[in-house]
Amino acid sequence: MKIKERHKQLLEYIKGSWVKLFFSMVCMLAVAGTSSITAFIVKPVLDDIFLKQNVAMLKLMPIMVVVIFILRGAAMYGEEYLMNYVGEHIIRRLRDALFDRIIDLPLAFFHKERTGVLMSRITNDVNVIKNMVSTAVTGSLRDVFTILGLAGVIIYRDWKLALIAIFVLPLAFYPILEFGRRVRRFSTSSQISMAELNAFLHETFTGNKIVKAFGMEETEKQSFFEKSQQVFRFEVKSFRAKALTSPVMEAIGGIGVGLVIWYGGHNVVSGASTPGTFFSFMTAVMLLYTPVKKLSKLNNTIQQGLAASDRVFDILEARSDILDPESPQPVKHGSHRVTFDHVSFSYGGGDGETDTVLKDINLDVMPGEIIALVGMSGGGKTSLVNLIPRFYDVTAGAVRLDGMDIREIAIRDLRREVAIVTQEPILFNDTIRNNIAYGKPDASEQDVFNAAKAAYIFDFVQTLPKGFDTIIGELGSRLSGGEKQRMCIARALLKDAPILILDEATASLDTESERLVQKALENLMKGRTSFVIAHRLSTISYASKIVVIVGGRIVEEGGHEELLEKKGEYYTLHQMQFADNTGEALAENPASALCES
Ligand SMILES: Nc1ncnc2c1ncn2[C@@H]1O[C@H](COP(=O)(O)OP(=O)(O)OP(=O)(O)O)[C@@H](O)[C@H]1O
Ligand SMILES: [Mg+2]
Repeated sequence: MKIKERHKQLLEYIKGSWVKLFFSMVCMLAVAGTSSITAFIVKPVLDDIFLKQNVAMLKLMPIMVVVIFILRGAAMYGEEYLMNYVGEHIIRRLRDALFDRIIDLPLAFFHKERTGVLMSRITNDVNVIKNMVSTAVTGSLRDVFTILGLAGVIIYRDWKLALIAIFVLPLAFYPILEFGRRVRRFSTSSQISMAELNAFLHETFTGNKIVKAFGMEETEKQSFFEKSQQVFRFEVKSFRAKALTSPVMEAIGGIGVGLVIWYGGHNVVSGASTPGTFFSFMTAVMLLYTPVKKLSKLNNTIQQGLAASDRVFDILEARSDILDPESPQPVKHGSHRVTFDHVSFSYGGGDGETDTVLKDINLDVMPGEIIALVGMSGGGKTSLVNLIPRFYDVTAGAVRLDGMDIREIAIRDLRREVAIVTQEPILFNDTIRNNIAYGKPDASEQDVFNAAKAAYIFDFVQTLPKGFDTIIGELGSRLSGGEKQRMCIARALLKDAPILILDEATASLDTESERLVQKALENLMKGRTSFVIAHRLSTISYASKIVVIVGGRIVEEGGHEELLEKKGEYYTLHQMQFADNTGEALAENPASALCES
């Protein structure tokens, strides 16, 4: 039932180009027709010109042959062009529809699917579908017409001989089907091992530093050679099956032709038939070979196409579970109060209780307040701030903006109010200027410069030969961790949103640049509701409130002094860092001193 729906949808895509498809079919009919006519006129050519020496036919026939072949050429061009046009047109629309759908899907989807797999949907699977549409659906029509026409000629010329041919043809079909099955099996295996090879290449090239650092070159070479050998083995099996198909078919065909010559020749010699009839018949049988072979591959192409279209429709039918409300509440641009109201959250996948990442979070952040989130790695800090722009939706409770559940606000409006510097710096392969102005393409040059200056990246960019016009990709992996982070900060600064989220935004900077960027950020945070995640406690001294998150729960909150006095979780964190940084703590904590030395 569901499958049928999908195929109907695919037909919808084809329908859009029905005029071209129609003319393509007209051309196909013409091509099929000319094949049959060619076989048909062998008889008058032989009997009238060569045997009866008819002069009128001697003038007519050559002209007819020329006309037929010119027509055939034109029709072949028309068919080929129109068919591929329709195919490519469908691919383009499917590709666009896929990107349109995928880019809107929630983050959770991207964590589930591997990037390489998603990419192959857009680049490979749509091509397989095109093959099905253009060669199978439309090309097979031409083959069917050709076979029908030629069969007509065969039966018309000599129906008794036709019986022999009809008995031999199915025999020739068997090896085609059998070898086709093998080819498909081996080529699937070969594709799977090829995909594995690709994944392996991707990993060892991007992770080359680690390969070298751990001296694993030889091991990696060995496992690559093994995988490469695997591909080789399947390819050999596959082309052996392919290479066997034609000879076996031809051998069987030879038997058929031998029989036909024996029986047909007998008739000609006894005078029951003419050489023209016989050769016309033979030509039709020979011309049958190609369309029959093509039709025999039809099943493979259709099976592969349907499998690919299933994979494509799986994505096209995926629906985001992060939805816009039916009637969104308006949000005024300006300072906001952000409230976490009994919020629980899990990424899903495990059973409810154990995989809950955030448990009953209550947090009320006033407009302009700066909240510092601290705590052990894996505690849930990033998960908490991800809920604010609705990268994920809460499992229970609600996140509120000025008292309104954020699920009542249009996603676009909500995200307009939030600027974020994520934990891992992500830049696009575009100019530095466009990276900083990402999301704000109309920003003036001065705005970009100001943001770059505030993030302390301006001077560095100036040292590059092309300055702000340098393409990130041209730098390769030349950018240092801190430089990338500062560009991300500049990008967030330029967005100038009333809610600011900084997830370890300055973690890759040295103490000196961190202090400078920190200053810029502090200036920026004035009047904005800010969430700052930091491991280095020294960088959050300006926060209005510190929230300690451990194991998905808020275990402490309050001011710096207040939390220190509590001698709880925060105090412990602070003590540990304090011990690392200065000699002062050694007296207080001799154990850590021992560890250090
Ligand atoms: N996409 C995801 N799917 C499933 N689980 C996840 C996902 N992202 C994070 N987690 C899990 O959620 C928990 C909290 O992770 P989170 O990234 O919020 O921690 P964090 O406090 O930001 O840690 P860190 O300080 O190391 O950045 C971890 O146990 C982590 O394994
Ligand atoms: Mg984190």
